Amino acid sequence: MTSIVVLGSGLAGLRAAEVFREKNFQGKITLVGVEPQLPYNRPPLSKQFLAGEWDEDRVRLRLPAEFHSLDLDFLKGIKVVGLDLEQRSVQLSQGTAIDFDGLVIATGAENRQLPALEGRPRVFTLRTLTEALALRQALSSAESLLIVGGGFIGAEVAATAHGLGIRVCIVEPQQTLMFRGLGKEVGSAMTNLHREKGIDVRCNTEISHVHDDGERTNIELSDRTTHTPDVILVGIGATPTTDWLSGSNVHLSNGVVCDENCRVMTADGVAVKSVVAAGDVARWFSRSQNRLVRSEHWTNAQDQAVNAAHTLLLDLNGEGGDALPYDPVPYVWSDQFGKKIQAIGFIDPADKVRIVKGALSDGKFLAIMERENRFVGAIGVAMVPLVMQARILLTEGASLDVAREKLAS
Ligand code: APR
Repeated sequence: MTSIVVLGSGLAGLRAAEVFREKNFQGKITLVGVEPQLPYNRPPLSKQFLAGEWDEDRVRLRLPAEFHSLDLDFLKGIKVVGLDLEQRSVQLSQGTAIDFDGLVIATGAENRQLPALEGRPRVFTLRTLTEALALRQALSSAESLLIVGGGFIGAEVAATAHGLGIRVCIVEPQQTLMFRGLGKEVGSAMTNLHREKGIDVRCNTEISHVHDDGERTNIELSDRTTHTPDVILVGIGATPTTDWLSGSNVHLSNGVVCDENCRVMTADGVAVKSVVAAGDVARWFSRSQNRLVRSEHWTNAQDQAVNAAHTLLLDLNGEGGDALPYDPVPYVWSDQFGKKIQAIGFIDPADKVRIVKGALSDGKFLAIMERENRFVGAIGVAMVPLVMQARILLTEGASLDVAREKLAS
């Protein structure tokens, strides 16, 4: 019987498995996931779940009956530790190996750790449901929270904790919150919004010294203030989970390098048939960008898994030449203080920003991003319909003039 192994039981792994069944693949599918739960949705973990509004059932990606109807061999709580591309087999943490005809690598990313804070009392990170449960529990009796890193996770948790009546301070080395994702102008507007709500946002600030007494962790900042919060969250970004691939012949460079059809590349530059990657871990060749790109967004995990699964099935059938290139317009959203923040396109903090609707100071606006006189992206705050229009325009490859005209009218 033909067999497909899917590594990673997050959104990308689940979607790939679903596509195989939707396309009537009747062979064996093994889904390997290090986490103990059925696949769940991460975006609510820093929002509704952390706020206690949603429970575990509500964050599930599929109902248990839907999941079981996929007829997967689900190995949960098990880690993949190695890949032999020649033998076409993967090694698992409990010492066994599984052979495959097709393989999906969807092992995601893991949070970066801050060595100065790792293992100290009251220090948390947030990516998994287990971590979200622990953080939620800690916040239930907390009065103060210090967040290290003012990216998407830091800003979302700040807004949620503020809603729970907790005093929040964010420490961010860049000049604004969410600088990497939103750039300076929009990042400044978001920083102002957080400050107006009462969050103590400290930009251009770093941790200079840490000590603990076994009970609490004391943090000194570069602005010479000292903090001993009830809870500390480290949210300083993520790195693709590829350590288990070292020694395999897979080309690793800030993720698993893939061709434009999501096929995994070897270190010698060969695209491996029926071995694909999707989601946070995959760095694929984008035709429109003419370079390798990687995306850690929910939408990408979902869409790339579909493309990768199609490629894999075509390869298995000997029709791989018909595979379609994967070249999406990135989309990411965030919810903070009741406002929806949405960004589309491969945004670079150096892009020129033009506000075409609303005003940065109102906390309700649409910004379009320009690079070399081209329309390359948009960011909206509390502008949902207009962002959707911008997304269509960007997908169509609209010029800057057309985008400006249509979105400003
Ligand atoms: N100390 C303090 N802050 C730091 C440090 C450090 N040593 N290193 C990095 N930072 C800051 C960065 O400047 C950045 O603002 O941490 C922030 C990390 O932000 P993101 O890269 O957005 O990552 P994070 O918020 O952890 O989110 C992880 O989850 O929701 C997704 O798309 C999101 O890919 C992102 C992922």
